[in-house]
Amino acid sequence: MPLGTEQSEMRCSVFIATSLDGFIARTDGNIDWLEQMGAVTPPGEDCGFAAYMATVDAIVMGRGTFEKVCSFPKWPYEKPVYVLSASLRQIDGALANRVSLLNVAPAEVIKRAREEGCRHLYIDGGKTIQGFLKAGLISDITLSTIPTLIGTGIRLFGDIPADIHLRLESTTTYPFGIVQTKYRVIREA
Ligand SMILES: NC(=O)c1ccc[n+]([C@@H]2O[C@H](COP(=O)([O-])OP(=O)(O)OC[C@H]3O[C@@H](n4cnc5c(N)ncnc54)[C@H](OP(=O)(O)O)[C@@H]3O)[C@@H](O)[C@H]2O)c1
Repeated sequence: MPLGTEQSEMRCSVFIATSLDGFIARTDGNIDWLEQMGAVTPPGEDCGFAAYMATVDAIVMGRGTFEKVCSFPKWPYEKPVYVLSASLRQIDGALANRVSLLNVAPAEVIKRAREEGCRHLYIDGGKTIQGFLKAGLISDITLSTIPTLIGTGIRLFGDIPADIHLRLESTTTYPFGIVQTKYRVIREA
């Protein structure tokens, strides 16, 4: 879809952490290697996450990420969440009025979110991010690299039909070992 259309007015961004070898979770979804960073991170340090979240209107996540977040002691998000799944039939319980279930292509997710007043979507989950990237719908990526090799797991990036070029916007080196890089996706004219 060319620039200047409705979809290009939506910012879809990624804010995610990977192991040094490019994984977002172990094969079974475990993120213990990421949670272990808490032991060396100063109290209150969130590597810019709260400031980023303040700019977000809604979160879009895949079923894999949704299931992981549901395993946390407490639902962590105040903002509306769109969960993408072809297998889930409904959202149960207290989350039913905070979470919308969608089984549509990324462009349709954006259309729906626009109709509901969103201008900035936080796209989360490996397959979901890959789907939005393939559709040319990701604007920018903030990537926090954790200095741990886990060898195998769920990848952030996957197959793409053609190269995607990004422009490095900034790099922040945290003394406790995280390197955070911000990229803007270069859209073809
Ligand atoms: N390191 C980090 O910062 C970080 C951040 C987020 C998540 N994670 C981890 O990543 C893991 C999950 O990643 P994941 O690769 O499984 O990806 P995911 O994107 O969370 O979930 C994939 C699922 O989302 C659904 N989906 C995606 N796009 C869809 C579409 N357009 N229409 C319908 N359904 C769609 C499908 O669900 P169905 O199979 O139900 O159809 C697909 O199997 C979890 O373990 C989570 O903890 C880590």
